[in-house]
Amino acid sequence: MTRKDLLGLQDWSREDILRVLDTAVRFRAVNERRIKKVPPLRGRTVVLAFFEDSTRTRISFDLAAKRLSADTLVFSSAGSSTAKGETLLDTIKNLDAMRPDALVLRHPASGAPHQIARRFPWPVINAGDGINEHPSQALLDALTLRDHLGTLEGRTIAIVGDVLHSRVARSNIFALTTLGANVVVAGPGTLCPPALRALGVERRHRIDDVLPDADAVMMLRVQRERLGGAMLASAQEYAAFYGLDVARLQRMRPAAIVLHPGPVNRGVELSPEVADSPRAALLDQVRNGLAVRMALLYLLLGGEDGSADVAS
Ligand code: NCD
Repeated sequence: MTRKDLLGLQDWSREDILRVLDTAVRFRAVNERRIKKVPPLRGRTVVLAFFEDSTRTRISFDLAAKRLSADTLVFSSAGSSTAKGETLLDTIKNLDAMRPDALVLRHPASGAPHQIARRFPWPVINAGDGINEHPSQALLDALTLRDHLGTLEGRTIAIVGDVLHSRVARSNIFALTTLGANVVVAGPGTLCPPALRALGVERRHRIDDVLPDADAVMMLRVQRERLGGAMLASAQEYAAFYGLDVARLQRMRPAAIVLHPGPVNRGVELSPEVADSPRAALLDQVRNGLAVRMALLYLLLGGEDGSADVAS
C-alpha cells in the first residue's frame, strides 16, 4: 500500500477500500484456526495511544497486532502523565524515542492524528478523532454489509441517530458513497441537520421514513459527552421517536440487517429484543473488526513484501 497513514476515508478510493476488505477476508481464516498467529509483523512494535475511552477498538487493534506477531505497547491517558498536564506532542515524542513502527491513536480533538502523522515517519492509524472520523470502524462496517448484501453498489443504507456528532457516521458516509451505496440519514433535527446533505446523503426526518426501503440500518449512540450541555429528550422519549424496536424491525425489508458500532444503550437506540435478534449483525461487526485491523496493520506496515502468503 502506497499510503503512509489511515487518517480518514474522505480521500480513499474504491480500490484502496476494497484492498483492505479483500485482505481482511484472507485474515479472517487465521482467526478461526486453533493457532491464531501468523508471522508478517514479527519484531515490529505497534503503539496504541488512547486519550478517550474505548473497549472494542482498543482490544481489537491490540489483538490484531499480536495475531500478526507484532509487540504492542498500550498507553491510556487515564492514569498517565496526561493527567499531570503533559501535551499530546510531548507524550508522542517520548513514545517515538522508544522507536515504534506504527501508532494507533484515539483522541478527543478532531485532527489530532493528522498533526502527529505530519511530524513522525511511522504510519498513524486514526482510531477515532473527536467528531471527525473513525475509519477502521467504517471499513469493518463496509465488510459486514458486503458479506450480507453481496455488494454495496446501489444498496440503500440508513444511518439513524446522532449523525452530527458521530465520527462513525462520517467515515461510513465517505466509505459507503465511494462504494456506490445510497446513504439516507434520519434523526432529531438538532443531531441530524439538513446541512448533512453536503456530504452527499439524503436526509429524512423520522426513522419510520427510512426503514421500509433500507437494505441495512446503522443505529448510532447519542454522543452525550459531545453535546456540550445541549438539551436532549429523555431516553424514553428518544427511544419512542428514534429507537429500533421489534415493531419497527418488522417494517424493514425481510433481509435487511441492523448494525451498531457499540457501545449499545439497550432500550434507547435498540430494544433488547432487537439487539439480540438474528437480524442484528453486531457480533459480525466485531469479528470483522479484528480482521480489518489486521489487514490495516499488515498493509500500512509493509508486511506485504510479496515474500509470504498473507495468512500462512
Ligand atoms: C464508537 C466511537 O468510539 O466512536 N465506538 C466504537 O469505536 N465502536 C461509537 C460510540 O462511541 O458511540
